[in-house]
Amino acid sequence: MRFRIYRLDPETQARPSWREYDVRLEATDRKVLDALERIRTTLDDSLAYRRSCREGVCGSDAMNINGRNALACITPLEGLGEPVTLAPLPGFPVIRDLIVDMTQFFAHYHEIRPYLITDEPPPERERLQTPEERAKLDGLYECILCACCSGFCPSYWWNPDKFIGPAGLLQAERFIVDSRDRATAERLAFLDDVYKLYRCRTIMNCTEVCPKGLSPSRAIEHIKLQQLRRST
Ligand code: SF4
Ligand code: SF4
Ligand code: FES
Repeated sequence: MRFRIYRLDPETQARPSWREYDVRLEATDRKVLDALERIRTTLDDSLAYRRSCREGVCGSDAMNINGRNALACITPLEGLGEPVTLAPLPGFPVIRDLIVDMTQFFAHYHEIRPYLITDEPPPERERLQTPEERAKLDGLYECILCACCSGFCPSYWWNPDKFIGPAGLLQAERFIVDSRDRATAERLAFLDDVYKLYRCRTIMNCTEVCPKGLSPSRAIEHIKLQQLRRST
């Protein structure tokens, strides 16, 4: 199978380049990550990419595959047009080859305070929720922070320092709707900003590419609705 892969080693290259590989795959090579491993072990051990779980859980091998952001480990090779073009997540600074710098992305994640905030004393065993309250977290808690969504969002490309981006906003919503959290008002006040929240233009690329089937754009709409309610 033929691959065309973005290569950049900042220590030796001033500019990125594309390199083509014709790789002989084994019958067990089913996913894009299998092909990358095959290329690295048989053709070019200088190729750099992140991976860990190989199960679509850790989120570390997000990349652009034939123009779409996806997780290499769960993207089937079958049906991909050749040459299969692999590039780093768009809009992220490249450290090397397919490895991007996630510092800004995680800074936004920490900004939304991704933990329960409450001044109520801890109960003896646990903070209970009704099944209905718990159900509100469905579609939010499953986010693996892979950044496929933020790396496919034009608003994030242009303002990665100021716009929280779809992943961070989905995470913000996860705590806003949590019945055990007591900081909803502060969370909404923090997000009430032309850049942090309102740079989202409802283009919906984020929802289109999320490998976990989540909808950051719906979460963002819900936050915007609550901002409206807050101001009326
Ligand atoms: S919302 Fe989806 S695409 Fe975005 S970071 Fe979470 S899992 Fe990845
Ligand atoms: S809906 Fe908003 S966050 Fe999602 S891709 Fe579009 S602009 Fe970005
Ligand atoms: S290697 Fe963990 S999500 Fe792909």
